[in-house]
Amino acid sequence: MNEIDWEAWRAEFPGLQKSTYLNTVSLGQLSRRSRSAVNRFLDLWTERGASAWYSYWLAEVDGLRREFARLIGASPDEVAIMPNISSALAAVSSALDFTQRSGVVCCELDFPTLIYHFLAKAPQGVQTHIASSPDHIQVPLEAFEAAVDERTALVATSRVYFTSGYIQDVRTLAGIAHGCGALCLVDDYQGTGQVPIDVKRTGVDILVTGGLKWLIGGPGVAYMYVRRELASSLAPTVAGWFGHRRQFDFDPHNLEFRDDAQRFEAGTPATAAVYAAKAGLEIINEIGPETLRRRTAALNQDLIQRLREHGCRLRIPSDPERHAGITILEMDDPARAVRLLADCRIIVDKRPGAVRISPYFYNTFEENGIILRALDEILK
Ligand SMILES: Cc1ncc(COP(=O)(O)O)c(C=O)c1O
Repeated sequence: MNEIDWEAWRAEFPGLQKSTYLNTVSLGQLSRRSRSAVNRFLDLWTERGASAWYSYWLAEVDGLRREFARLIGASPDEVAIMPNISSALAAVSSALDFTQRSGVVCCELDFPTLIYHFLAKAPQGVQTHIASSPDHIQVPLEAFEAAVDERTALVATSRVYFTSGYIQDVRTLAGIAHGCGALCLVDDYQGTGQVPIDVKRTGVDILVTGGLKWLIGGPGVAYMYVRRELASSLAPTVAGWFGHRRQFDFDPHNLEFRDDAQRFEAGTPATAAVYAAKAGLEIINEIGPETLRRRTAALNQDLIQRLREHGCRLRIPSDPERHAGITILEMDDPARAVRLLADCRIIVDKRPGAVRISPYFYNTFEENGIILRALDEILK
């Protein structure tokens, strides 16, 4: 294996010189490549005007689709480019029939937007079961197994839980869903990029993920994978011209969906965001998800060891193989800790009862030392 020059990659992210940035769980750093890609977009806007759409911008969206498909082992025709996860969920679930099967199974460690999406459908008869977590770190597969039955339409949960970093076994979960005739949807916002995934191997039907954290692409772009056979069988009831088979015919009388996952796309994409996102994804694919995982896991295990030596209370999985790059430090007053760390130019974030620290490939082992020394002072 070739040695990776991590210092060179670090230099690609100028923001890392301004602070000890350990907060990719909230927002990945801006690369020089994304900045110059957005500048390229702006130049095209100035120089070409509307013709930029046909000569460049639509091709850039397709390039982004290909780049994402490559990362997750899908085919580009199985990928829809969406503005955020909430819109992706709205588009795909508008095509699901909840009249025969009304059940959706989520869990209490899922990011709320996923659960809210289905709770909002209660007036239409959708029943959302929220599986419990005994330790606030993980949800046993048995809890899903117990909740899924022949009334379940969908198992919808995360691969990496945002408040514990636990990596759920979504392959087994997809098996549990399919065993009862249900579909499996995975929210992979905290997984894609930092933990490798091959969607075909996992067997999940739908995967949604966003670009602004571990895919270092900034806000404005989310991705949705829909298994090919499923995509072509689903007719969304949220629609727009980008999902039409002959978009530029402008036929007001007939709505004919595309055959592929693009049928879930509705309106004009945020093109500046597409340029930033594609440059970020190129970096992720260039380094490669396996290498990223090794590097991030090593940084994280080093951090955990140091935190343990300082007697910190951690809320993390016991098995490092099941732990992604999010380390949760339990604290009585996390807001104060985040504020005091920020005063020392150390950036982390908080969730109820905890501080989240999330080193990524561009961070260093020295930075783990920096935050530990600052925490020492704060904990005093
Ligand atoms: C696991 C997870 N899902 C979803 C989201 C956000 O969803 P949306 O793109 O709708 O804002 C986040 C954001 O923090 C997240 O961590």
